[in-house]
Amino acid sequence: MAKSLSVLALACSSLFSGLAQAQISPVVVNSTPVNASAPIPEAFVSFSIEFAFFPDYAGNLSHPNRFSDNLLQNIGSLMGTKPHIRVGGNTQDYALYNASLKEAINGTYNLARSADYPTTIYIGPSFFESYRTWPNTKFSHGFNLGLGANNTAGWETLLETVPLACKALSGGKLLVWEYGNEPDLFSTSSQGPVRPPSWNEQTYVSQWLNGTRAIKSQLAKACPEMTSNATYGYMSPSFAGTNNHLKAATAFADNLDADEDIKLISIHNYIGGATQPGVTLQGTLMNHSSTVHSISAHLALRNSLGYTGIPYILGETNSLYNEGAPGLSNAFGAALWGVDFNLWCASQGIKRTHMHQGTDYRYAAWQPVATNKTTIGTKPPYYGNIAVAAMLGNLAQHSVQISNLPLPSEFESAYAAYENGRLERIAVLNMREYNYTVNGTSSIPNPVPRPSQTYTFQLPHECVGVAIKRLYANGSDAVSGITWDGWSYNYELEQGKAVRLQNVTTGETASVKRGSVSVSVEDSSAVILELQRSR
Ligand SMILES: *[C@@H]1O[C@H](CO)[C@@H](O)[C@H](O)[C@H]1NC(C)=O
Ligand SMILES: *[C@@H]1O[C@H](CO)[C@@H](O)[C@H](O)[C@H]1NC(C)=O
Ligand SMILES: *[C@@H]1O[C@H](CO)[C@@H](O)[C@H](O)[C@H]1NC(C)=O
Ligand SMILES: *[C@@H]1O[C@H](CO)[C@@H](O)[C@H](O)[C@H]1NC(C)=O
Ligand SMILES: *[C@@H]1O[C@H](CO)[C@@H](O)[C@H](O)[C@H]1NC(C)=O
Ligand SMILES: *[C@@H]1O[C@H](CO)[C@@H](O)[C@H](O)[C@H]1NC(C)=O
Ligand SMILES: *[C@@H]1O[C@H](CO)[C@@H](O)[C@H](O)[C@H]1NC(C)=O
Ligand SMILES: *[C@@H]1O[C@H](CO)[C@@H](O)[C@H](O)[C@H]1NC(C)=O
Ligand SMILES: *[C@@H]1O[C@H](CO)[C@@H](O)[C@H](O)[C@H]1NC(C)=O
Ligand SMILES: *[C@@H]1O[C@H](CO)[C@@H](O)[C@H](O)[C@H]1NC(C)=O
Ligand SMILES: *[C@@H]1O[C@H](CO)[C@@H](O)[C@H](O)[C@H]1NC(C)=O
Ligand SMILES: *[C@@H]1O[C@H](CO)[C@@H](O)[C@H](O)[C@H]1NC(C)=O
Repeated sequence: MAKSLSVLALACSSLFSGLAQAQISPVVVNSTPVNASAPIPEAFVSFSIEFAFFPDYAGNLSHPNRFSDNLLQNIGSLMGTKPHIRVGGNTQDYALYNASLKEAINGTYNLARSADYPTTIYIGPSFFESYRTWPNTKFSHGFNLGLGANNTAGWETLLETVPLACKALSGGKLLVWEYGNEPDLFSTSSQGPVRPPSWNEQTYVSQWLNGTRAIKSQLAKACPEMTSNATYGYMSPSFAGTNNHLKAATAFADNLDADEDIKLISIHNYIGGATQPGVTLQGTLMNHSSTVHSISAHLALRNSLGYTGIPYILGETNSLYNEGAPGLSNAFGAALWGVDFNLWCASQGIKRTHMHQGTDYRYAAWQPVATNKTTIGTKPPYYGNIAVAAMLGNLAQHSVQISNLPLPSEFESAYAAYENGRLERIAVLNMREYNYTVNGTSSIPNPVPRPSQTYTFQLPHECVGVAIKRLYANGSDAVSGITWDGWSYNYELEQGKAVRLQNVTTGETASVKRGSVSVSVEDSSAVILELQRSR
C-alpha cells in the first residue's frame, strides 16, 4: 500500500503541474440534466438474497446478523433509504414448509444439480424470524411456484406460509410479493426441469394468476390489512432473461396483469457465465461496451412494455451467473464493473437493481457468516455498491437524475449526477486492467508502474473546483485493501461500520482553470468529483 500511495501522490502533483492537460479537448458537462434519466426512485442500490441463505444474511431474533445490518446501514446513510431486499432465487422454488422443523432451514445439497446451494429444502417457522432482524428495511418474499402448482406439498407450502410471511412483513416491511423465480427456465433448467416441454406463457399466466389469487385469499384471512391496493402487489415475471423459452411481452399480452396487481416488472440479468469460455475481467466486466450490450435487450423490452406503465427493475442481477468466478467476480475489477453497470442502468431509466447475494457466492458483496469455504467479511463488490450510493446521493431527499458522458474507449466511462436539476457530481471509471501481482501470485508484485489517465471536464461557469473521492485498491486483481475515499467497511475493523483509514490519501481537490477541471485517474480505479461553487 505504501508503494501505491506514493504513486498516487505523484499522479496528483502532475495534475497541478501539467497545465498542458487543459488543452485536451474537454468533455462538456451540461449544467442541467440534458439526456438524463428521470428522477431515480429511492433505494436504487438494492440487494437480492438467495432464499436458502437469507437466515445466514439476516440471522434470527436471538442472533441477528449485525454485520450485515451495518453494511446495509452504510448504504442507507448515503442513499437516504436502506437497500430493499428481495428474498428469492432458485432456492425459493425448492423450499417446502415443515411446521415441525426446529431450524430455520434444512437444506440438502445434490452436487449433480448444484454445488453452490441446496436443491432439497425444508423451511421451518423460524425462517420468518429473519424478516425481523434489520430495522427500517423493506423486503419482498418469494413464494414457491416451481413446486407449487402440481405438487401437493408445494401447494400446501404456499397456503401455509402466506400467514407466516405476512405477519413477519406487516407494519410496513413488505415491498412486494413474488411468485416464482425464473419461470422462463422451468422446462429447461440445468438444475432439473420442473415443468414439461409444453410449458408456455399461457400456462404460466394461468398458474401465476391461480397462485396469486390463493395468496390474496390467504392474506384476507391472516393479514386483511395487507390486501389493500397500497400494500398488496407483486414483482413479476422474474424471468431469467429477455429471450428465453418464455417471453415477458407474450406473458403480459396473455394478461399476466389481469388483476392489476403487478407493481414492478422484474427481469434478471448477468453479464456472462462463471465458466463460459472467453470470459475475462477486462473483456467481459471492465468493459463498458459489454455492459451497454447486456442492458440493451432490457431497454427494448422495457420500451415494449411501456404501455403497462409499470416500473422496470432488475430484480436479480450480478456479474457472472452460476454464482460468479473466482479471480473475476470477487476481485476489485468486479467492483468497478458494478459501478459502471449500476450507473449505466440508472442513466437508462432502469428503476432499481437488486444485486444478488448468497453464502459462499463468488460475486457476493459480503460473506455474512464464516464457512469452511469462505471467511466472513466485506468483499470488493460491496465497495462498488457504496460508490454507486455516494454518486446517487440522498434519493429520499432530492430528485436525482443521472446522465452518461460518452468517452472514447470502452475501458472507461463517466456519468453526471444532477440534484433538483443542478449538476452536483461526476463519476469517472478508468477500467483499464492493472494487476498488482504477476500471474495472480501475491508474492510477486507487478514491476510495471501503474499508468493513469487524465480526464478533463468543462463545467458550468459558477464551478470553481471539485473535491475528489477515490474508489481504490492496488489493482483490479486485489481482493482486499479496498477503500472508498479512505473509508474501510471491513468486518475486521468495526464489523462493517465505516472506519476512516489514516494511511490513505483523502481530501484532494482540483480547481477549475479556464472553465475546465482535470483529474488523473489510475488504471483500475474510479473517482467521484463533487462540484464546488462560488458563493
Ligand atoms: C492501512 O490501515 C489499515 C487499517 O489499520 C491496515 O489494515 C492496512 O494494512 C494499512 N495499510 C498499510 C499499507 O499500512
Ligand atoms: C420435518 O421436521 C421434523 C423435525 O425435524 C422431522 O422429524 C421430519 O422428518 C421433517 N419432515 C420432512 C418431510 O423433512
Ligand atoms: C438462531 O440462530 C442461531 C445461530 O445461527 C442458531 O443457533 C439458532 O438455532 C437459531 N434459532 C432458531 C430458532 O432457528
Ligand atoms: C433434512 O432433510 C433431509 C433430506 O430431506 C432429511 O433426510 C433429514 O431428515 C432432514 N432433517 C430434519 C431435521 O428434518
Ligand atoms: C389452483 O391450483 C391448485 C393447485 O394445483 C388447484 O388445486 C386448483 O384447482 C387451482 N385452481 C384453479 C381455479 O385452477
Ligand atoms: C409437475 O412437476 C414435475 C416435477 O416436480 C415435472 O416433472 C412435471 O413436468 C410437472 N407437470 C406439469 C404438468 O407441470
Ligand atoms: C384497486 O385497484 C384496482 C385495480 O387497479 C381498482 O379497480 C380499484 O378501484 C382499486 N381500489 C381502490 C380502493 O383504490
Ligand atoms: C467489450 O465488449 C464488447 C461487447 O460485448 C465486445 O464486442 C468487445 O470485444 C469487448 N472488448 C474486449 C477487449 O474484449
Ligand atoms: C463444510 O461445511 C458443510 C456445511 O456445514 C459440511 O456439510 C461439510 O462437511 C464441511 N466440509 C468440510 C470439508 O469440512
Ligand atoms: C445521450 O446519451 C447517450 C448515451 O450515452 C449517447 O449515446 C447520446 O449521444 C446522447 N445524446 C445526446 C443528444 O447527447
Ligand atoms: C507468468 O505467466 C507467463 C505465462 O504463463 C509466464 O511466461 C511468466 O514467466 C510468468 N511470470 C512469473 C513471474 O511467474
Ligand atoms: C492480469 O492478470 C490476469 C490473470 O493472471 C491476466 O489474464 C491478464 O492478462 C493480466 N492483465 C494485465 C493487463 O496484465
